[in-house]
Order: sequence, then structure tokens, then C-alpha cells
Amino acid sequence: MSFLFSRRIKHSRKDDNLVLPEHIGIIMDGNGRWASKRGLPRSAGHTAGAQNFRTITRYCSDIGIRYLTVYAFSTENWKRPEDEVSALMKLFKQYLEEALSDFKDDSIVVRFIGDTSAFSPELQELIERTQRESADREGMVLNIAMNYGSRDELVRAVKTIANEVKSGQLSVDEISADTVSSHLYTAGQPDPDLIIRPSGEYRISNFMLWQAAYTEFIILDKLWPDFSTEDLDSALREFSRRNRRFGGV
Ligand code: IPE
Ligand code: IPE
Ligand code: MG
Repeated sequence: MSFLFSRRIKHSRKDDNLVLPEHIGIIMDGNGRWASKRGLPRSAGHTAGAQNFRTITRYCSDIGIRYLTVYAFSTENWKRPEDEVSALMKLFKQYLEEALSDFKDDSIVVRFIGDTSAFSPELQELIERTQRESADREGMVLNIAMNYGSRDELVRAVKTIANEVKSGQLSVDEISADTVSSHLYTAGQPDPDLIIRPSGEYRISNFMLWQAAYTEFIILDKLWPDFSTEDLDSALREFSRRNRRFGGV
């Protein structure tokens, strides 16, 4: 009865002293292993993972999360066999179309973070349209990280800042942590409070390196297609018990 529980979280947040994260990041990992365990091709795991992405996104919106960032495809994932990459591209197209109408009902604002110029013109057009059509909504902001790598994001930020200095728009002394933050794909958004990584891997894999300076991490042994709304509820309870000090006492 996860849905009921979610309602309880939402409505009794004050009574139970449950602290919900404002921004959640999810590294959607483990699709390939999920498929292999079932004797299926890896692409079947990506299909199951994409389906779960829809479920978990709507759930986050329903319980009142303000920002959700999902890691869908990294700058390093191009190294995979060609047939896996093309299966993923096909899936992105299909799911973007379908998710568009889903997310409309929930008033979700869809944004893409990463270098989307590497995708096919058709996929880029869909990305543009999705962003444009959802920009004026008032619900949760969903960042889909596609061809995203935090090092690439930081290099781009450094280049832009350097050009601003060169052209006299900015002086070197004016450069601060806020300057860097405001040149990232996530400019204007709060840093993630919580990053969840299913699949049991204890690493960050080039995800939000700058933004995660004080993020709480929760790693689960489940594979992404098996990650349920109940798992999210228990991650939220665990997050709520954490004592975040941000370097203080
Ligand atoms: C995550 O699942 C999806 C992408 C990286 C595109 P994986 O495909 O990495 O699944 P595993 O980690 O190999 O099981
Ligand atoms: C991270 O998973 C990227 C995504 C989930 C999109 P990977 O499977 O690519 O990461 P590694 O290779 O295990 O570090
Ligand atoms: Mg993986």
C-alpha cells in the first residue's frame, strides 16, 4: 500500500517530523543485469527500466518532491556495443513521446541536462518540443540527464566563464562558487539533497560531482527495474533520519 503510505508522508510531514528532500537524484543503474538474470537481452532491461522511470517519476511528483534528476545516459555510455546504444536511442524516442502525455496530467516540467547536440535530429527535435511544451507548467521539475557527464558539464562551465572574463563581462575576482553553479545545466536549481543508486555499485559514475558536495547517498542492492515505490518510501524515511551538518556541528 505504498500509495497510501505516500499520502501519509505528504499529509503528516509535520506531525511525524518527516523531512522530504527538495531535490532527489537517481542513478538508474542495473538494467543490463536485470535482463541477464532472466536470460533476456540487455535491451529488455532498458525497456523495463524505462517503464519504471515513468512510475517512479509520477510517484515523486505525487508525494510533493520539487525536483527530480534521473541519470539516463552518460557521456561514457557511448562506449557500449552499437546495438545496445541504438536500442537505447529508440527507447528514448518512444518513451519521450509516451511520457509527454503522462507527465502533462501531473503538470511536470521536463528539462534535459547534458549535451543533447550529440543525438539524432529527430530526437533533438523531440527533446526541444518536450521542453517547450512543459516549460510553463507548475509541478515538479524533472531533469533527464542524457549524454550527461559532470566533468563535461564543468569543462563547459569553465570555458564559458573564461570567455566572460576575456570579453570583460566578469573579473577574475568576481568568480565564486555561485558563478560556477550558475553555469551548470542545473543553474537556478537547488543541489540534490539525496542521491539514490540502485544496483549496489558504490560509485558516482560522473553524476553531479559539483552539485553533490553535501548530498546524502543511499545505495540499494536492488536493480533499477525492481526499484519500487516502497523502496523509495524507505529511502525517504532513511533520509529523514540523517543528521546533515554541512560542515557545522
Ligand atoms: C543503466 O543500466 C542504464 C544505462 C546506463 C543506460 P545498465 O545498462 O548500466 O545496467 P548494468 O549496470 O549493466 O546492469
Ligand atoms: C551510470 O551507470 C550511468 C547511468 C545509469 C545512466 P553505468 O552503468 O554507466 O556506470 P558504471 O559503468 O557502472 O560506473
Ligand atoms: Mg550499469
